[in-house]
Amino acid sequence: MGDAIARTLREASANLGAVYPTSQRVKEILEQAESSASRLLGCDPHEVIFGANMTTLDFVLSRTAAREFSPGDEILISALDHDGGVAPWLELAHDKELVVRVVECDEDTRLDFDDLERKLSPRTRVVAFAWASNAIGTIVDAERVCRLAHEAGALAWIDAVHFAAHEPIDVRAVDADVLICSPYKFCGPHLGVAYGRASVLDSWRPYKARPAPMDPLGRRFATGTMPFELLAGFNATIDYLDSIGGFDAIVPYERSLGHRFLDSIPDTVTVYGLPSMEGRVPTFLLNVEGVPAAEVAQELAARDMGVWAHDSWYSLNLYQRLGYENQAVRLGFIHYNTPEEVDRLVAALVELSDRAG
Ligand SMILES: Cc1ncc(COP(=O)(O)O)c(C=O)c1O
Repeated sequence: MGDAIARTLREASANLGAVYPTSQRVKEILEQAESSASRLLGCDPHEVIFGANMTTLDFVLSRTAAREFSPGDEILISALDHDGGVAPWLELAHDKELVVRVVECDEDTRLDFDDLERKLSPRTRVVAFAWASNAIGTIVDAERVCRLAHEAGALAWIDAVHFAAHEPIDVRAVDADVLICSPYKFCGPHLGVAYGRASVLDSWRPYKARPAPMDPLGRRFATGTMPFELLAGFNATIDYLDSIGGFDAIVPYERSLGHRFLDSIPDTVTVYGLPSMEGRVPTFLLNVEGVPAAEVAQELAARDMGVWAHDSWYSLNLYQRLGYENQAVRLGFIHYNTPEEVDRLVAALVELSDRAG
């Protein structure tokens, strides 16, 4: 990926639309990126929108969708969401007098579908939710949420940032209207990628500079010059994922690491959220009895293991509901981790907890 980015900066530093070769080259890179993203997400290339990152795309697309919304219209978000999927709606609600309501999760952190059904109403315009929690790894049944949203006449709007690092995406299978993810979560460049259902995008008035073309469809929602070097990096990322067997290979492998971890951690480690690999990705939020989270992160960093300690993990609603004091440690496995690394991590957690007595 790094080579593809560097090569593009060296050999194709141009903008779209000119007749000279470097401009033709960035055109090819963009077309390939739309095609790669369409394969990743299961949509058509003209339904792909590139942006700076998920949060920026979410602010842009939510404002675009809401141009037709009226005071009193409702947006549902979920208690599992990262604030990148929440703040855009709160700010819109502030500007346009909309109502944002939070769909609860159960005690085990699964989305509460009874609460979703209770909160859906004829005023609901959007049901926005994270497909997987970045804090605790819980997966939401996206197909079921999308179905209920559509039955109520609302748009189904998915934050797939965390999910996309661990699981395959098919926007048609779940019937999403909008889905946003961030390639940096799956070994790609710092970039945001969105899908918008063609009929939905076509019904929106874009915020764009007027001479910029209206076609292909998705590009009308991307403002200004695209980061072509990052798009080249994104293409290399998709090639890389293909080269290791794609998600057919990644999912069972990562799950085996998650099982190995859960099966061997000591009782002195509290894992918040789902206790097994059922219904989750291998991302774990935990505390070690008697050891402050910041100290766990520090000790692991000293052993070359990169984990963070944080309070909310940007999941402010979930933070209130999980009820740990101050901070917790989040750690997770991805396809390049090895079973030996899982064992080394567990050994370090055991050592820290033994030391705490
Ligand atoms: C679930 C989830 N949503 C949204 C975001 C924000 O993504 P970005 O940094 O691309 O704006 C993150 C980032 O960690 C995330 O994990």
